[in-house]
Amino acid sequence: MDEKTIFITGANGQLGTALRRKYPGAQFADIDELDITLEESVNKYDWSNIKVILNAAAYTNVDGAETPEGRVASWKVNAKAVGYLSATARKNDITLVHISSDYVFDGTKSMHKEDEYLSPLSVYGSSKAAGDLIVGTLPKHYVLRTSWVIGEGKNFVRTMLEIGKKGINPKVVSDQIGRLTFTSELVRAIDHLLSTNAPYGAYNISNDGETASWALITKKIYEMAGLKNTVTDTTTDDYFTGKENIAPRPLQSSLDLTKIHSAGFTSVDWESELKRYIEKENE
Ligand SMILES: NC(=O)c1ccc[n+]([C@@H]2O[C@H](COP(=O)([O-])OP(=O)(O)OC[C@H]3O[C@@H](n4cnc5c(N)ncnc54)[C@H](OP(=O)(O)O)[C@@H]3O)[C@@H](O)[C@H]2O)c1
Repeated sequence: MDEKTIFITGANGQLGTALRRKYPGAQFADIDELDITLEESVNKYDWSNIKVILNAAAYTNVDGAETPEGRVASWKVNAKAVGYLSATARKNDITLVHISSDYVFDGTKSMHKEDEYLSPLSVYGSSKAAGDLIVGTLPKHYVLRTSWVIGEGKNFVRTMLEIGKKGINPKVVSDQIGRLTFTSELVRAIDHLLSTNAPYGAYNISNDGETASWALITKKIYEMAGLKNTVTDTTTDDYFTGKENIAPRPLQSSLDLTKIHSAGFTSVDWESELKRYIEKENE
């Protein structure tokens, strides 16, 4: 694939950063260069040499989306703007690779398949679900549904390492179950689907391995980082009691990886990737 024909949106985010590293020859922009919520800017961009848009732009502040301003911003970026990108893709015969979320489900099923009915609990989840539906109408599209993304930027692993190093013993929820997705895995999956011309459609992607709670993952983080902090299990309800504008979260976020494996993709286990990530953070 000619990298010059790839365009990355949201290029400064966790995934966008990893995609730029993978495709150094690609064109890219974040909000300052191309705000995808501005229809005119999207239309004005010269798409003539672009064959693939990798949409890594999103409004990802799950709790922020429960505020009056956040509700609007979330729907603007995750739904309306995805409509603009989709129209552009359709008009210019571009393949749109879009990233979706476990939050499009209510989390009542212990393992989510690609064809599960959308059942979002939160504003963020609803706006992401709307984006999925729009992209799904395109002839050339991949919707990659992912969970618990860890890359370069603010994320759960970094937060836990930071507070761990300060000597804080955190209380962490033990009733939300899922698997981490390192941006390395997302990038590999995107590259695999594109380079093998896999059938268009929706694919789940997270790292593989045993499903785990955030509390258990935190214990692993401290163990791998050689920190002695203790982690106390709590429930999502207890953790958020008394806090305002908290988005309801799916309790089960694990994604079934059968479909992407059938497309020839080989997964990496989240625990081995976590170990590598922590070693790098400690360099
Ligand atoms: N993070 C997770 O745990 C998680 C879980 C499941 C799915 N996902 C999905 O995975 C994808 C990548 O997530 P991520 O963690 O890489 O997100 P991220 O780090 O928040 O990156 C999103 C990027 O999009 C940019 N952006 C926001 N509004 C924009 C606009 N109007 N035009 C252009 N760019 C805009 C952001 O800029 P600012 O920072 O300036 O706003 C940011 O650089 C998203 O689709 C997300 O919904 C994430």
